[in-house]
Amino acid sequence: MGNFESPRLAAGQTVLILGGDGFCGWPTALRFSSMGAQVVILDNGARRETDRNLGVASLTPIQSLHDRVEAWTAVEGSVIRTHNVDLAENYAGLLRVLLETRPDIIIHFAEQRSAPYSMRSSEGARYTVDNNIRATHNLLAALVETRLDPHLMHLGTIGVYGYATAGLQLPEGYLKVKALGADGREVGKEILYPGQPDSLYHMTKMLDQHLFEFYARYHGVRITDLHQGVVWGTQTAETCRDLRLVNRFDHDAIYGTVTNRFILQALEGRPLTVYGSGSQTRGFIHIEDMLTCLTLAAATPTKRGERVRILNQIAETSSINALAGRISRITGAEVVHLDNPRREPEGNEFEVDNGTFHDLGFVAHRFDEILETEIAQLGELLGLDGTGPRSSVA
Ligand SMILES: NC(=O)c1ccc[n+]([C@@H]2O[C@H](COP(=O)([O-])OP(=O)(O)OC[C@H]3O[C@@H](n4cnc5c(N)ncnc54)[C@H](O)[C@@H]3O)[C@@H](O)[C@H]2O)c1
Repeated sequence: MGNFESPRLAAGQTVLILGGDGFCGWPTALRFSSMGAQVVILDNGARRETDRNLGVASLTPIQSLHDRVEAWTAVEGSVIRTHNVDLAENYAGLLRVLLETRPDIIIHFAEQRSAPYSMRSSEGARYTVDNNIRATHNLLAALVETRLDPHLMHLGTIGVYGYATAGLQLPEGYLKVKALGADGREVGKEILYPGQPDSLYHMTKMLDQHLFEFYARYHGVRITDLHQGVVWGTQTAETCRDLRLVNRFDHDAIYGTVTNRFILQALEGRPLTVYGSGSQTRGFIHIEDMLTCLTLAAATPTKRGERVRILNQIAETSSINALAGRISRITGAEVVHLDNPRREPEGNEFEVDNGTFHDLGFVAHRFDEILETEIAQLGELLGLDGTGPRSSVA
């Protein structure tokens, strides 16, 4: 992967990563640790348990969290402490970790993140809403109770705005509106963007936003909410350093994202299966760019009393057809269209303002620059070259 420059963190800061065993959280833990932060992971292993229940697994050979952090110490010489605590269920455990850790920064990834999972059954719906809302609210309540004042960075989703064509460039969280006041004069306001999420998973991120607004305004909690696009790519500068540090690669229908699905199909010599017309347009960001954005946001914390800072964390938008076309041109894979199994607008325009990250110095890496390298690296890692299913795992 190319040269990605991370901004500096204040020396010795403690960063608590909630959900640090997951696809985004693990590489984030390694990146902040490599930058000199004291990193602590809290994770209850829910995602690994869900994999077992669904009978799916990462295609890359991920190690247990215990073995991962041991490997990191062997490779880097830095210690990452871990706590197996359920953020949604174990409030006392959370208080204990917070008081012991006294973090300067908390990065909150610990939510059920699959839209299809949240829509597949009442069990999936109830688990997603219960887990995500309770996790976020427990955290906020605990910050007030402990009187700690970390900068809380939450991973929200760009899908919180909804995928129906908005007819405007989607702003960074707040919409300027005008209404008529009681005296007939025009009143200007900025309100949280009234999104129309297309799944219960996305809905939980919208509800999170309202909890954040309340806790920032009423209790002065310092919060950055990152409305992130679909993350693609697998390995990062740190996870590449030893096979025991490898990041997860999900390809199943529940957790595998469209980019992973297309890349794997191409690497196995199968056609790329586009759902419906393929005119659905989404926001994307490479995993290295996600890390750059997280370090930029961490280096510019919000102040007490400030409203929630909402940043759109995406590198580019693309239609599913255009994405399939790019992968097809690189690999020679055929593209086929299937009936769309999802209830979503068949096509949409999706224009997003991500100006704050650009002002902070973020230079996005786009599909056209790095997709070919990514496919080649993943092929090597998975032992696939486009001629058929995998025979062995690297
Ligand atoms: N992956 C993406 O493309 C993407 C895009 C936008 C936003 N996000 C957001 O980033 C976050 C992380 O996503 P991911 O892809 O890494 O997901 P993931 O499922 O790989 O990781 C989530 C981690 O949180 C843990 N967790 C869940 N509930 C918990 C609880 N109650 N207590 C403690 N730990 C808990 C899980 O065990 C898992 O390790 C999510 O909130 C997701 O909504 C991800």
